[in-house]
Amino acid sequence: MTKARFIPSVLVAMVFGASLAGASNVAASDAPKYVVEGGKVDKATFNGYRRFHGTCHACHGQDAMGGSFAPSLVESLKTLDYDTFTKTVLEGRQAQGSGGSVSAMPAFSNDPNVTKHLDDIYRYLLARADGELGTGRPKKLPKPKK
Ligand code: HEC
Repeated sequence: MTKARFIPSVLVAMVFGASLAGASNVAASDAPKYVVEGGKVDKATFNGYRRFHGTCHACHGQDAMGGSFAPSLVESLKTLDYDTFTKTVLEGRQAQGSGGSVSAMPAFSNDPNVTKHLDDIYRYLLARADGELGTGRPKKLPKPKK
């Protein structure tokens, strides 16, 4: 009997755990998706590549691998969720490092080159972080047939 009472609580824990995971999946499913097939990317992800290398790469490095000014976003996007990503890019962030070194993530909320393309930049970076997309300029997939 005691055993039988244990099982449901284990199940509850599992279901609860699953629903927590589910909750983050819900957020993730709201997040923009990339398409990478055979090293080729959809239009949105390609645009993200371009926009990243237009604005962000000066600090975050070629292929988002990090530079002397800012961390690798290939690493960051392994854990950073979509909401935190967009918030950080729009609002910027002061580096919390010691030693008085000045390094900060600028706020881009007034830069339409970024705000209009933020989802695409996210797609590109997530594809890089997931290891689906390598370095360099990706090739575009053919337009999807309608
Ligand atoms: C002027 C340099 C600079 C530019 C340009 C810049 N960033 Fe940053 N960014 C930083 C610095 C520095 C940090 C680290 C701040 C900190 O330590 O909190 C950062 C942090 C971030 C983070 C948080 C990383 C983490 O692990 O939490 C994201 C996301 C990010 N930048 C995205 C972008 C995107 C997208 C662009 C282009 C639209 C961009 N950045 C352009 C300097 C820059």
